[in-house]
Parts: sequence; C-alpha cells; structure tokens
Amino acid sequence: MRHLMSPLDLSVEELDQLLDLANDIEKNPEKYAHACQGKKLATCFYEPSTRTRLSFEAAMLNLGGSVLGFHSADSSSAAKGESVSDTIRVISCYADICAMRHPKEGAALVASEKSTIPVINAGDGGHQHPTQTLTDLLTIRSLKGRLDNITIGLCGDLKFGRTVHSLINALIRYHNVKFVLISPEELKIPDYIRDDVLKANGVEFQEVERLEDAMEQLDVLYMTRVQRERFFNEEDYVRLKDFYVLTKAKMELAKEDMLVLHPLPRVNEIAVEVDDDPRAAYFKQAQYGVYVRMALILTLLGIQV
Ligand code: CP
Repeated sequence: MRHLMSPLDLSVEELDQLLDLANDIEKNPEKYAHACQGKKLATCFYEPSTRTRLSFEAAMLNLGGSVLGFHSADSSSAAKGESVSDTIRVISCYADICAMRHPKEGAALVASEKSTIPVINAGDGGHQHPTQTLTDLLTIRSLKGRLDNITIGLCGDLKFGRTVHSLINALIRYHNVKFVLISPEELKIPDYIRDDVLKANGVEFQEVERLEDAMEQLDVLYMTRVQRERFFNEEDYVRLKDFYVLTKAKMELAKEDMLVLHPLPRVNEIAVEVDDDPRAAYFKQAQYGVYVRMALILTLLGIQV
C-alpha cells in the first residue's frame, strides 16, 4: 500500500507514467468510466477548499466510484476533540482511499501511519500540496511540451505557499530548470528550501522583488495568493496583500508563449483583464487537476485499465 505525502514519494519515472496516464484519461475518458466501480473515496477536509476537494470527488465519480467525507473540522468529530489518528482508523473501515487536507503540517503523515487505506496529502498547513504539484507538472508538460529547460518565476507568498514548496521540490529533478523567486522581503522563500533544496542541489536561482524585472526571461510565471489565513496579524496581511498585481500592461513584457499559472483561488494578484490573454492557463490548470487526480487514484489503488 502506498500513500502520497510529497511529490518526491514518486520517482521521476513513476511521475512520467502518472502524467502519461493522465493525458490518456484526457483523450479517452470513456475507457476509464467504470475503472473504480465499487470503490469509495473519502475526502476529509479540515480546511476550506473548492478545487482540491471537488476535483478529487469529480475524479472518483468519473472513474465510476463513489465519494463520502466532510468539508470542515466543525462538521466532523474533530470538533469534539477526536484525533486525526482515530479518525483515519475509522475512515479506513468506510472507504478504499482517502484525501486529507489539514491546517497542521504533518497531519496527513500522522494519518498515513495509522491508516489501512492509501492516504493522499491534499495540503498540510504551509508544508506541501503534492496533488497541486502533479496538476502543475501536467499543465506545464501538456502546454509547453516539456518539463526540462524552463525558467519559471514563482511570485507572491513564497514563505507560506505550500504549492510553491512542493513545485520546487518536484522541478529540481528535471534538467536545466531555473527559478526566479519573486517576493517581498517578508514573504521570501524559507531557508530550508533555499539552502537545503536549491543550493544543496546546485540549482540556478535568483531572488528579486519586482515582477517587472523578471518577466522577459520567463517561460512560466506561477502566481500565488498572499494567504490571509497564514498571517499572525491583520496589519501585515493588509500591507502585503496587493504587493503584486499582474496586469495586461505587465504581460506585454513577457514572451509570446509564456504560460501564466496560478493554483487558485486568486484574490487581486491577477487582474481579471488578463483572463482573456491566450497565455493565461490557470483555468485549464484546474481542469488538468481532475485528470491527474484520476490517474493518482488508479495508481494508488493498483487498478490497471
Ligand atoms: N489550489 C487549491 O488548493 O485550491 P483549493 O484551496 O480551492 O482546494
């Protein structure tokens, strides 16, 4: 039995196979429509979500399976003080696979240690969000045709942004990937990513504060939201929330084939006027999230079609 806590739980070969499977699902959805008949997915979400929870549920329904779960700590027995360990032991009796989101770093790992079914980390605090990373990799590979030889700009909240941390970990395994880390001083990438991941692996990166200084060299621009829920005080959030706003004018500085990605939800960091730009791929990215989660469910359940 396998769990997914981090994108590094999959080797590069396994990841490539998973992305190939996701592309096949995209092209031939009918082939997979009954692959999970009789199987149940539990979505245990202790934190709000639109895309991750609903795309997991859509993925299982597309595979002919069923879904059950809770969408907030308040609507589960966590509100009465039940531990994650006890909850997963019970969920293991009701479902075949579980996707879990929790505000505490490491919660999904704790669950996986007590679980008798595969557990997927659907986001744990500011730590990791591996299925968003699978979505991001599938989007880049499908739309750019490669995962190597790219320069990617990561912009916004690089301190608390778990999608950014997971994506860096995954992309450094590909050849000649360069990073431009675009953030205000207060939201710079944590030392454990800068030193232990980027520097330790000899990866080329630069840190800049102005988005305009990075635009012209990027193949992919990955925008992120400044996350109100991770701040300790409202004053800091208000000061930083509109630090970056991607506009049509800024897009004019970019390459003609640069991709704009965003894990969503967006607040103000991408102006709505950018949505019509053919380089804006964030809603396509959300669609790729369904295909890759279908591929992941099949893979972790050991189902071959
Ligand atoms: N990208 C993402 O994790 O979105 P949700 O918070 O809506 O799941």
